[in-house]
Amino acid sequence: MPAKWLKDAVFYEIYPQSFNDTNADGIGDFNGIVEKLDYIRSLGCNALWINPCFDSPFHDAGYDVRDYKQVAARYGTNEDLYRLFEEAHKKGIRVLLDLVPGHTSEEHPWFRKSQSAQQPNEFSNRYIWTDRWFAGCQDLPYIAGEAERSGTYIINFFKCQPALNYGFLKPREPWQLPMDHPDCVATREAMKDVIRFWLSHGCDGFRVDMAMSLVKYDDEQKTGTCSIWRNVRQMLDAEFPEAVLVAEWSRPDLSLPAGFDADFILNDPHTNYSTLLRDYNSPVDNTYFRKDAPDRDINRYLDIYRGWYEATKDVGYISMPTCNHDTVRPAYRLDETELKLAYAFLFTMPGVPFLYYGDEIALRYQEIPTKEGGYFRTGSRTPMQWDGSKNLGFSDAEAEALYLPVDPSADAPTVAAQEDDPASMLNTVRALLKLRHDTEELQADAPFEVVCSEKGKPFVYRRGSLLLALNPSGEKLIIDADVDGREALYAMGMVDAADGRLAMGPQSFVVLK
Ligand code: NOJ
Ligand code: CA
Repeated sequence: MPAKWLKDAVFYEIYPQSFNDTNADGIGDFNGIVEKLDYIRSLGCNALWINPCFDSPFHDAGYDVRDYKQVAARYGTNEDLYRLFEEAHKKGIRVLLDLVPGHTSEEHPWFRKSQSAQQPNEFSNRYIWTDRWFAGCQDLPYIAGEAERSGTYIINFFKCQPALNYGFLKPREPWQLPMDHPDCVATREAMKDVIRFWLSHGCDGFRVDMAMSLVKYDDEQKTGTCSIWRNVRQMLDAEFPEAVLVAEWSRPDLSLPAGFDADFILNDPHTNYSTLLRDYNSPVDNTYFRKDAPDRDINRYLDIYRGWYEATKDVGYISMPTCNHDTVRPAYRLDETELKLAYAFLFTMPGVPFLYYGDEIALRYQEIPTKEGGYFRTGSRTPMQWDGSKNLGFSDAEAEALYLPVDPSADAPTVAAQEDDPASMLNTVRALLKLRHDTEELQADAPFEVVCSEKGKPFVYRRGSLLLALNPSGEKLIIDADVDGREALYAMGMVDAADGRLAMGPQSFVVLK
């Protein structure tokens, strides 16, 4: 069962480089996050996920960890992070760090020893080495010619990220160790040690990077990788029963039974999630929330989501993020009204919502050169924009010294500019999250049921006894519905509910009690 505190949790994802710089070095820091905790609380977010903030050469923005127990100096000290945990807890905010269990940086001391000419040593099998000096393996990506050791090694993502060795479900070659080999078990135990370290310093859990990637030659059901997570969960149940694990996996049917509290639905083609906010996998842009989508159909997403929801609703939660540091911001495709409707949907669904920093003010995606292995993702990682002061309030450094540029447009969105307008993006997010916190039937556990998802009709759904309807199109849509005796708890656009009929004006949304 997922941790109880998730029932009413709403997460705020912070890319720490770009949130708030308090010492004018152009890069966000822990003290900057502490300074903004009241702001985060004012949004209605009561939990944080901070992207990797550990010592790293930053070839993949910190997903290349060099020391799992030491924070990167550019963000502050370990003590600053412990203080962040404490200050957040005082304000009722939990904090998840980002655990990267599948790989380390090639500069991690484990890898330095693993690749050395002195073999064997304690870390020889911490990574996956072939027994050939120049050739690798047909079906796993490998690097040759880089190590002192006579062998090639398997990577998990970029070249700088050698894969940690949790073993092979069914080894096919002598260099492929079985999962129960003591050296593979040692890798798992080392990762549990990292988990214990941060939990005992006050963190509340982890977002788990590439959670599906641990065991190689795993089967379709990820039997090997799941058994590792079950083992981790047993440790947590015994030692840190409130600790939360959120998987980057997008297979809730596998991850949740394996011990994760929640799993992200990401833009991978198999999820069809991109059809909601940015339909880039199909030749025609049918983004569901675009007013002018030529062939709008929520079933593209719902058909997949419902299968997972039904299979896992008693086991754990599905998380649908507004965006993350790997995807193009939703403001890229959706205008303000479209975004408000999208958030109305995301924040009234079951499971645990995640708001990516800046999405609450419709921060824009910027076409800028790559930084720290970001490539196209860099445009979604630019500084938070607070007000009209220098660097839009992100930093007192000179503009050229900023981690990434702020939006140069004259009308760049900021928190301050939206603060006093009740209809702003910012205040709409606040109103939606307040509604969720005030209404148990909109939170993680209340049942979800589709009433109508037919094309050309409003999308109508139930959360517990509440009836909700959504019309992202530019036309008025009418549908027979059980509306009599109900009152609106919240509405956007023109909505008329009477005499067994629900008339949904263009671009409208309603929650009926
Ligand atoms: C997923 C992370 O979200 C992404 O930013 C990173 O590049 C890869 N995993 C590799 O760790
Ligand atoms: Ca700084």
